Amino acid sequence: MNTPAQPDRIIIFDTTLRDGEQSPGATLNVDEKLTIARQLAKLGVDVIEAGFPYASSGDFEAVQKIAQVVGVESGPTICGLARATRQDIKAAAEALKPAAKHRIHTFIATSDIHLEYKLKKTRQEVIEIASEMVAYAKSLVDDVEFSPEDAGRSDPEFLYQVLERAIAAGATTINIPDTVGYTTPSEFGAIIRGIKENVPNIDQAIISVHGHNDLGLAVANFLEAVKNGARQLECTINGIGERAGNAALEELVMALHVRRQYYNPFLGRAVDSEEPLTNIDTRQIYKTSRLVSSLTGMLVQPNKAIVGANAFSHESGIHQDGVLKNKRTYEIMDAQLIGLTDNQIVLGKLSGRNAFRTRLQELGFELSETELNKAFVKFKELADKKKEITDWDLEAIVNDEIQQA
Ligand code: KIV
Ligand code: ZN
Repeated sequence: MNTPAQPDRIIIFDTTLRDGEQSPGATLNVDEKLTIARQLAKLGVDVIEAGFPYASSGDFEAVQKIAQVVGVESGPTICGLARATRQDIKAAAEALKPAAKHRIHTFIATSDIHLEYKLKKTRQEVIEIASEMVAYAKSLVDDVEFSPEDAGRSDPEFLYQVLERAIAAGATTINIPDTVGYTTPSEFGAIIRGIKENVPNIDQAIISVHGHNDLGLAVANFLEAVKNGARQLECTINGIGERAGNAALEELVMALHVRRQYYNPFLGRAVDSEEPLTNIDTRQIYKTSRLVSSLTGMLVQPNKAIVGANAFSHESGIHQDGVLKNKRTYEIMDAQLIGLTDNQIVLGKLSGRNAFRTRLQELGFELSETELNKAFVKFKELADKKKEITDWDLEAIVNDEIQQA
């Protein structure tokens, strides 16, 4: 049953270009954002949160450009963030205009600590602002998402009231943020269940989740949220974002893929248990991770799940022996699934510059001519010593010899 509030697949909402870019030191220029947005479209994300148009003229320009170029009819929905104020919402609507499918995402905090110290407003005032600003956004675009910021620490009864009013005012996606990464999986699951059971008009909206990784629990929280009715996941490539970052797209998507038979029944529909639960082309994951890492300058830790350099390598003799006998002894997924070559020889000492350049591009590295020349020299030196040059070797060459030079 594919209704707006009960989509057939889990909606992947990528916020690399908005919340991800809020990582300290991860600023991107307009062209870099456009390059990432194009790759996100290839990856198959359903929604791209392209920025916060009122925040700066650079953000406005980036959102507008992405809306023009990537927001085509067959492409993803392009979303812009706006505080619950008229000027923010107006700027977002203006920047998003060129996109075939556009969404305004507006938010206001609902936790007592935010109301008292940040907003200096009463609960009733917050309810009225949320309702009025959602209605204003709805007068400008059809697709409106509302977030009660710091929902994870908000009083559930108050949360239900705000959500009910936001849906009545026209929000079609209700996003529940664990803004400070405080909740645990069972608590977060219970918040989603509580919303499903206590917000009378919840059937008119999709429940989305957004979470930060302060306690390293964001992905686990989201998976529990899916079991309790969440149908949109807000995430970033490599999990970049404020402080400890956001829930990592690649981890969520691969957890839903590898364990799809486990998660399928929670979608509440009878489908083939082999059917994918998201629209993501998993073979684009590694390339997207590389691209985001090289353009933001944020390196991926070697032991990072899914996209870290060690994620598919086996060091101990016992593990190597097991994998040679049967890969499934120590591997729960194939490296090819995320677009890698499964530790096969990709290049050798006879490989030319073109093959080298092409493979780097396939892996998502965007190098200047000078960087490429330097990397090629290093590659030849390594190829003289080592017969098999893998994707991991190439990544090490680029990271160690070029980006840190
Ligand atoms: O973390 C947060 O609460 C946010 C909101 C704007 C959704 O990023
Ligand atoms: Zn956030």
